[in-house]
Amino acid sequence: TCQEPENFQQTFKQIISTAPKNGEWTMFTDLFQYRGFWYTPNFLGGVILAQQQFKVQPNDIILCSAPKTGTTWLKALGFAIMNRACLDDSTKNPLLVTMPHECVPYLEVDFFQRKTTQYPELPLLATHLPYTSLPESIASLGCELVYICREPKDVFVSLWHFIGNVKAKGNEKFPLEKAFDLFCQGISPNGPYWEHVLGYWNASLRWPERILFLKYEELKSEAPLHVRRLAEFMGCPFSLEEEKEGVVEKIIELCSFQNLSNLEVNKTGKYPIFASVVVENNKYFRKGEVGDWKNCLTEEMKEHLDRITEHKLRGSGFTF
Ligand code: A3P
Repeated sequence: TCQEPENFQQTFKQIISTAPKNGEWTMFTDLFQYRGFWYTPNFLGGVILAQQQFKVQPNDIILCSAPKTGTTWLKALGFAIMNRACLDDSTKNPLLVTMPHECVPYLEVDFFQRKTTQYPELPLLATHLPYTSLPESIASLGCELVYICREPKDVFVSLWHFIGNVKAKGNEKFPLEKAFDLFCQGISPNGPYWEHVLGYWNASLRWPERILFLKYEELKSEAPLHVRRLAEFMGCPFSLEEEKEGVVEKIIELCSFQNLSNLEVNKTGKYPIFASVVVENNKYFRKGEVGDWKNCLTEEMKEHLDRITEHKLRGSGFTF
């Protein structure tokens, strides 16, 4: 873990005092814009520290995502694939007793808090950082990145529920219309969402051997295919023997929404993402479905968000 550099507090204060800010989203803290993306102060501190200090190791694999796109699922899958020697041993499998976020640390969160993680021996990290804000050492070493994205309407709805649930005082929920308006303007934690996706998409076109690009919906509909791709990309493809033993299916089952969300640790445990922000683990497991936006957004909202998405993606060669 890193030492907080002497100039960190100074840089942080200077950025916070001059950055554009928006206090409407999260009800409890402002979002600050830094290098084109919006962050809570905790995340922003982590971004700056990671940029100043983080030195990736050549074999590290980094799981990248915007919030609410399937990070928890990808962390569980990546960890299960890498750590599959203990798949059949229920007394030794960390995923059965540890929240996926504790198994695979966020580089910006971990750095900001300098907490130690429980299983640091695996060369697996995660980040919500946009591609253009990744620490220099990641780009220069050319280590491998996996990115997961998700359809924007589902991302928005998931985010609104998450923030409403995590932050709500009493029964008060953050008004959907207000949240929607901000999300559409690109003002959301680690947003604008489309730019986050396009940063990694463009990089994956340029360096396909270095960046594996996954979609939440495809992982849902064709899990075996994408779990095999993931294992291969991570340098640990399934052997014929493992295929015969059904290891792929066992990993998918272990990491399924149904299984993870029913584990005691994920039902009742808590995740101290920052010293001042402790989230109940069950908040990371809401529905895990594709198309839940239909239960929340009006037809007008759907059309509005679809139009923005179409406009933003035009010419990129990417579609959700
Ligand atoms: P919903 O709110 O739509 O249910 P993140 O992990 O990036 O915070 O994303 C959270 C979203 O992923 C939530 O979506 C959550 O329910 C869903 N999710 C969590 N674990 C999952 C799993 N094992 N399989 C599929 N979806 C999962």
